[in-house]
Amino acid sequence: MHELVIVLDFGGQYNQLIARRVRECNVYCEVKSYKTSIEEIKAMAPKGIIFTGGPNSVYLEDSPSISNEIFELGIPVLGICYGCQLMAHLTGGNVSSADKSEYGKTETEFDTDSLLFKGLPDKGITWMSHTDLISGLAEGFTSVAHTSDCPVAAMENKERKLYGMQFHPEVMHTENGTAMLRNFLYEVCKCRGDWSMSNYAQTAIEQVRAKVGKGKVLLALSGGVDSSVLAALLSKAVGNQLTCIFVDHGLMRKNEGDEVEAAFKDWDVNFVRVNAGERFLGKLKGVSEPERKRKIIGEEFIRVFEDEAEKIGTVDFLAQGTIYPDVIESGAGDAAVIKSHHNVGGLPDYVDFKDIVEPLRLLFKDEVRQLGIELGLADYLVWRQPFPGPGLAIRIIGEITQEKVEILQDADAIFREEIALAGLDRDIHQYFAVLTSMRSVGVMGDFRTYDYTLALRGVTTTDFMTADFARIPYDVLAKISSRIVNEVKSINRIVYDITTKPPSTIEWE
Ligand code: XMP
Repeated sequence: MHELVIVLDFGGQYNQLIARRVRECNVYCEVKSYKTSIEEIKAMAPKGIIFTGGPNSVYLEDSPSISNEIFELGIPVLGICYGCQLMAHLTGGNVSSADKSEYGKTETEFDTDSLLFKGLPDKGITWMSHTDLISGLAEGFTSVAHTSDCPVAAMENKERKLYGMQFHPEVMHTENGTAMLRNFLYEVCKCRGDWSMSNYAQTAIEQVRAKVGKGKVLLALSGGVDSSVLAALLSKAVGNQLTCIFVDHGLMRKNEGDEVEAAFKDWDVNFVRVNAGERFLGKLKGVSEPERKRKIIGEEFIRVFEDEAEKIGTVDFLAQGTIYPDVIESGAGDAAVIKSHHNVGGLPDYVDFKDIVEPLRLLFKDEVRQLGIELGLADYLVWRQPFPGPGLAIRIIGEITQEKVEILQDADAIFREEIALAGLDRDIHQYFAVLTSMRSVGVMGDFRTYDYTLALRGVTTTDFMTADFARIPYDVLAKISSRIVNEVKSINRIVYDITTKPPSTIEWE
């Protein structure tokens, strides 16, 4: 059993970020809806509770709220933004509309006698985003931070262990924000910090062993980070009781199929690689509409997987690479967040099995990577950027041919190589080439050419729901462009995609 801190989500956009920050401080944390009952909260016995921000005003009738009993449990509470105002409102303070709303980086002064700011500078920048403010403190509370427009930028009732911050300590623009959260966890909640990936790896391995016993486990391995880490974990736990089926649809990046195979060659698992490139290309012949392509690939993938699974016979468990952001409930607590993309993880309808194992269910993406490192997985798998299930099929606009796949693989490999050489591979969160299938006129030597236009896409993002285009230096782009037109046949023009998401998407199809 780990120490637990819970984040009660009141609909703020940073709920997951708060939980990640807490975990970075080595304290296990889960996100729960604000509708969670007091009884359930008591049963979880958290060391501390954090209220998130939210879009509403606390004094509106249908704003998300919580029973006052939460403050009587003797468990420390930290309210952030809306959560801070809610705490003030519920304990008898006043919240009103501010004359001037604060948004963005704000000079703030702190009372360093407060445990929240212990050991930190008494002035700094915080990230604010509010139109309401706390205009009157409840009895027992004192203000422990202020800005020029906000008299209560943080508050505390030390005796009752109730704390609030009007600003967002979880966003990186707040200087020392993580240190403030750490102070809450260690100084107020008295956590010891027992959450680490090496502990987790050990516990997860034992749990998988206990659940699986002598059973057979089947995993659809895509070569992506989640399924690769899952394979590594399961292999350590149950060795060759695990069979990984890797369907190579021939639409992977250059050499990727071989890399995945090489990474697992020496592991104690049954590794089945199915080279189904021709089969997929056959099905895709003549198809140019993006949704049709996606559908065909999704369906064909299942067919191939089914054929292979049949050879293995009945399995006891199907392993799935579900991770925590997929299972967190939304702020309203009504619906789970569901990815609209099809992934190669979920195939339960088509395979005969008794139960599911999902040992990554509690982890954030960055924790999955840490776990991969802990388990000794190759770096290039752990740090792999996201790659869509349908692969290069949705990066070749229009009809797909083997020739186009090869052109794109070669161009994309050069792009990735140069980004890595420039030391930008961890700063740009996703980058790839797109074969537009549009042709234009060029000149090479003394000859006229009529060849393809290639587009380069590079984005920075925190959640892939919104994204900005990466500001790749011109000289890096120049080198990439020159190398691709010289080394890859059939490309005579290169453009860089400078749209944000929205209104564009990251992928072109
Ligand atoms: P878009 O293009 O929607 O992409 O802005 C957002 C992120 O999702 C990835 N993506 C997919 N991932 N199956 C996946 O597993 C898919 O069908 C799929 N389509 C897009 C995309 O690469 C980006 O990271």
